Amino acid sequence: MTGFDGIHLRRHEGLDAGSTITAIADLYEMVYAEPPYDGGPLFTRHRFLQRTNRQVQSPGFSLITADADRVLVGFAFGLPFREGSWWAGTSTPQPPAELVASAKFAVIELVVHPARRGRGLGRALLAALLDRRPEHYAILLAEPTAPARQIYGRWGWQQVADVQPAPDAPRLHALMRSLKPDA
Ligand SMILES: CC(C)(COP(=O)(O)OP(=O)(O)OC[C@H]1O[C@@H](n2cnc3c(N)ncnc32)[C@H](O)[C@@H]1OP(=O)(O)O)[C@@H](O)C(=O)NCCC(=O)NCCS
Repeated sequence: MTGFDGIHLRRHEGLDAGSTITAIADLYEMVYAEPPYDGGPLFTRHRFLQRTNRQVQSPGFSLITADADRVLVGFAFGLPFREGSWWAGTSTPQPPAELVASAKFAVIELVVHPARRGRGLGRALLAALLDRRPEHYAILLAEPTAPARQIYGRWGWQQVADVQPAPDAPRLHALMRSLKPDA
């Protein structure tokens, strides 16, 4: 795939190498120890591996990795949500009916190593993940106080609801972006 700044982006359909999940979990654990996540219950390595090993079995799971000198410095992954589906847990208010009724691509993770931030890698990972998706919309959940929440706003994502995906999870902002070419 594309590369810049000595960084190589690669697309994977599923987790194709046993070592990939370990490297991803290592980076996840380091980044989600940062505030405001602070390694909270939803953000532990164990919970991450539990849900990721399940998500990777979903049809259409897609992963983009970024490495520099063969070291993982960022990743993004997601999966399609079929028509009529929405995030698990409670949503306030109910999300727009048209969005729920449509096929959507859910961005599950976007992570960049702290030393590599602010140089366009996050934007490039997300663009690669969403490139030529057939769905009309992309959705994601963002921690309201995380720097990423502001970044998504600048990148054109709009809040449609608050979602608490699990009883021990914080309330997250459910954001959406149109993927239609004319949007
Ligand atoms: C969110 C995240 C992936 C962004 O990665 P990134 O490589 O810094 O992203 P980019 O460089 O493409 O864009 C960062 C934006 O912040 C701005 N920025 C400025 N200085 C910055 C800095 N020192 N660090 C980070 N971002 C900075 C950039 O200008 C850019 O804004 P713009 O696109 O409107 O110009 C990264 O901060 C991260 O891993 N956060 C922790 C995990 C997380 O919260 N993920 C989101 C889960 S929903």
